[in-house]
Amino acid sequence: MFLSAAPKIKWPSDMKTLAPILVTGNLPASVLDALKREFQVECHAEDCPMSRSKLLHSIHDKVGLLSMITDDINEEFLDHAPELIMVANMAVGYNNIDLDAATRRGILVSNTPGVLTEATADLAFSLILGAARRIAEGDRMVREGHFRFWAPFHFLGREVSGKTLGIIGMGRIGKAVARRARGFQMPILYFSRNPLEKTEEEALDARYVPLNTLLGESDFVSLHVPLSSNTRHLIGEKEFARMKLTAFLINTSRGPIVDEKALLSALQNGAIAGAGIDVYENEPAITSGLEKLDQVLLLPHVGSATLETRTKMAAMATDNLLAGLRGEVPPNLINPEVLR
Ligand code: DGY
Repeated sequence: MFLSAAPKIKWPSDMKTLAPILVTGNLPASVLDALKREFQVECHAEDCPMSRSKLLHSIHDKVGLLSMITDDINEEFLDHAPELIMVANMAVGYNNIDLDAATRRGILVSNTPGVLTEATADLAFSLILGAARRIAEGDRMVREGHFRFWAPFHFLGREVSGKTLGIIGMGRIGKAVARRARGFQMPILYFSRNPLEKTEEEALDARYVPLNTLLGESDFVSLHVPLSSNTRHLIGEKEFARMKLTAFLINTSRGPIVDEKALLSALQNGAIAGAGIDVYENEPAITSGLEKLDQVLLLPHVGSATLETRTKMAAMATDNLLAGLRGEVPPNLINPEVLR
């Protein structure tokens, strides 16, 4: 479908003569080549985020942006981007983008849903198993030369099979975690903005419960909600107090959903048994003290970080950007209001 009816989009007269776009991450050559065939591409081909000053400077003449979650696309950024038509975020989450501000300016925004579901669910399950069975701690112990004996009650973890899993946020990734949990014979409780259809609940063998029930009854609580003003600090001191002393918190969604200081206290005071954390409140910084605790497994935001998945995300973001800049509706447009 073409966007010719979209009144807010101003197409630069030289669109067909290699209009400039910015790619803020290091993408596979095949993906970049597809963009280079149609646009003049400035690419930040480094394995670290683009600096703010470079980002603000580079965007001034660009019609398209293929952005990373580390790029803060806020009013200040948009003020520096007078020519911008489309932002294709290479992530399913888009809390790095002020969507209202982009929409007000008639800028199309897309994300990359679906392609990272299985990789992220795999990582959530790795954290469940890794935290419960003390995988990273055991690895450190062996490397440091402290593996001196086997003993029946030495280095015990917690059983995963058959334990209750509480899933907060039953979207694509929550459901993929539930499917994995069925293989471990785990009863599944879930809490979500919208309860599932009965047939889907039955297929996943998952029971909808209020949040407090989920917190009180689960052995593992796994977070799969997007970050919004409603979910910021969804898990804080009160919620940790409701969890079992033997429970584990798993977070592969967004850091600010958990009050990280409250998490530190809960772990230090034994309010919960442990945690598996991939995302942080002020990434890449972590609340000081977490790194000293063996009962928390800490990863550097790698939920979707497999070669296969990142390649698919890059290709999907590219397809979205190409569509939007060609005047078509991007397949994963998240602000269709721009077209009205
Ligand atoms: C996402 O897609 O939102 C991930 O967090 C990026 O890896």
